[in-house]
Amino acid sequence: MATDQYNRNLHYLRISLTDRCNFRCVYCMPEHMIFRPRSELMDDEEVLFFVRLFVSLGFDKFRLTGGEPTVRPNLVGLVKDIVNTSGVKSLSMTTNGVIMKKLAHPLAEAGLQRVNISLDTLDPKKFEMLTRRDSFEEVWGGIMAAEEAGLKPIKLNIVVVLGHNDDEVVDLARLTREHAWHIRFIEMMPFGGATDFQRNQVVTAKDVHERIKEAFGPLEAVNGGKLDGEARLYRLPGGIGHVGFISSVTQPFCASCTRARLTADGRLRLCLLHEDEVDLLTPVRQGVSEPEIRQLAREALWRKPWGHGLAEGTVPLNRVMSEIGG
Ligand code: 5AD
Ligand code: SF4
Repeated sequence: MATDQYNRNLHYLRISLTDRCNFRCVYCMPEHMIFRPRSELMDDEEVLFFVRLFVSLGFDKFRLTGGEPTVRPNLVGLVKDIVNTSGVKSLSMTTNGVIMKKLAHPLAEAGLQRVNISLDTLDPKKFEMLTRRDSFEEVWGGIMAAEEAGLKPIKLNIVVVLGHNDDEVVDLARLTREHAWHIRFIEMMPFGGATDFQRNQVVTAKDVHERIKEAFGPLEAVNGGKLDGEARLYRLPGGIGHVGFISSVTQPFCASCTRARLTADGRLRLCLLHEDEVDLLTPVRQGVSEPEIRQLAREALWRKPWGHGLAEGTVPLNRVMSEIGG
């Protein structure tokens, strides 16, 4: 089992399959993003090597991220191989949903269990402003396709941006009256690149909660208000789905963090909001032995930082969100 110096049991790995994306969300990447050459990214064999390596370190929960993981060729084949790796208990994916109409069924058949889909707004015009792409209808169709394919519970991620979609939180929460979805409101986090915007336009989870409460009445805490992963879950009066709040900025969940991240270029990133990374792919390509790579990973995990320094103004600058995967 992998533990860190603070005695957290690390067993959840988020693997970024590519830094590319077919959207350009304003809070995630610059409009004219420069992507890494493909030769720098892990190929399928390398991804599978790392899945086995992390299983041997006690990891059992995996998530595929990007950029946008569905733009990667052979995604379905790769999902099948990961799911069939002994020791992998769960595999899910975070996606923008834009090609899920086509991919939901094949992915579910391949053994993918769940998806989180980004949906910041119900207004196609605002959607275009936030993602810089006119694709609301495709994404909505993708959400329906994912649900039909059984990739449940459907979790929708909403990054709340002041002046862009904060006026829609009530409408978005209302979706849980008719759909057994998790509607998750996320505080925008600052990264290198669009930092000022990200700092000035944060809407706190507390604010969002208040607005929803004003509209529907008090929300009922699910699990006694305890964290479910990174979210605190609630139910609207009469709701069938969950409303979740992810307060990464104002009330971080670092004490119960069990995760590590592998970037598409094979760096082990210990915390989303810290620059510390350890390059695992280069030694693999140099032919360093598996036990030695495992030792490198184990030592890096041990050093996982405690928490982020956003309150003190420390912002990670070496990557933007799309290069880490969320
Ligand atoms: N702050 C918080 N969440 C973000 N995401 C992307 N950029 C940010 C940011 N700056 C989220 C998106 C998506 C996931 C990949 O990461 O909502 O669901
Ligand atoms: Fe792409 Fe997701 Fe980033 Fe939007 S948030 S640009 S969909 S990776």
